[in-house]
Amino acid sequence: MQNEQLISRKVVIVGAGAVGATFAYALAQSGLSDEIALLDVNQELAKGEVLDLSHGLPYYPNVQISVGQADAYTDAHVIVITAGAKQKGAESRLDLLQRNAAIIENIVGDIVEHDSKAVIVVVSNPVDVLTYLAHKKTSWERGRVIGSGTVLDSARFRYLLSTHCGVDVHNVHAYILGEHGDSQVAAWSMSHFAGVPINEYCKHCGSCEGWENTKAEIEERVRRSAYHIIEYKGATNYAVGLALLRIVGAILRDERSVLTVSVPLQGEYGLSEVSLGVPSIVTQNGVESVIEANLTPDEIEALHASASLLQESLKAIQR
Ligand SMILES: NC(=O)c1ccc[n+]([C@@H]2O[C@H](COP(=O)([O-])OP(=O)(O)OC[C@H]3O[C@@H](n4cnc5c(N)ncnc54)[C@H](O)[C@@H]3O)[C@@H](O)[C@H]2O)c1
Repeated sequence: MQNEQLISRKVVIVGAGAVGATFAYALAQSGLSDEIALLDVNQELAKGEVLDLSHGLPYYPNVQISVGQADAYTDAHVIVITAGAKQKGAESRLDLLQRNAAIIENIVGDIVEHDSKAVIVVVSNPVDVLTYLAHKKTSWERGRVIGSGTVLDSARFRYLLSTHCGVDVHNVHAYILGEHGDSQVAAWSMSHFAGVPINEYCKHCGSCEGWENTKAEIEERVRRSAYHIIEYKGATNYAVGLALLRIVGAILRDERSVLTVSVPLQGEYGLSEVSLGVPSIVTQNGVESVIEANLTPDEIEALHASASLLQESLKAIQR
């Protein structure tokens, strides 16, 4: 018998492409959600993905998976937007802006119209600009409309540091801030191995020469990661699917996790009228607060440069 006290944790995924379907697969296996609804303008694609995912039901924790329509927004806890065009070849994330802004604004308009109480997580690129536009469209409190930000980039950074330095990736705490894109900022001053600042660890380790050059190489590899993967296989999907699982899990479980999601800033780091990846406390209501880390002057300067670039893109779209 159904217990009416139980609240179903429902996640709506808009866009059943490479990212949306992979996230749905990870979410179904995680047991974090009781209901997953997949929406796509390409109804056939959504139906196909839902059928395929549903055939795995005997092997997942209990979960309902369905093709959704806009009315699914009303009782959703989290709505993850992965709909839109993706990068082709050398196209930058900002090139996608014109195409995806209109799509996201329509979807968010529908969400508001359906009186949703959900937290919106924007994933479509350029994610920071689209998060800002999505937030403006809702007029909701700022923490309820967030972007996946640099959560994926930070995972890539941790992975590369882990392999380079020979330290378990779980002991690597390292953060990329700013744009999920070319102007992102490696926050070395916030990064450490189990409490030991990475620069300090490097002095003790001494196994590589020219740490400053290595740092620059690692930053560049993180920045170029998506371009390489897209060149090889046409899309990035697995790591972003897991980054989304991390963010959505923090919301569904009210974890108060610190994640570098994209959030519209209100004076933090001396910035406003822009959304970008900064360490934030993520709760069931989305971002509760932004943590202002003690960045170095160079890092602050780079963060401001990243913000200016995003603001230029916003101006271009608002013209
Ligand atoms: N933020 C990140 O970390 C990150 C990482 C990877 C990809 N992305 C971005 O995520 C987006 C999706 O990537 P993908 O590889 O899944 O692309 P994809 O082309 O495989 O899937 C996009 C899907 O969106 C659907 N769609 C388009 N307009 C729609 C609408 N109005 N309503 C519902 N569905 C609609 C399409 O039919 C398609 O199935 C891209 O913008 C990509 O750049 C972001």
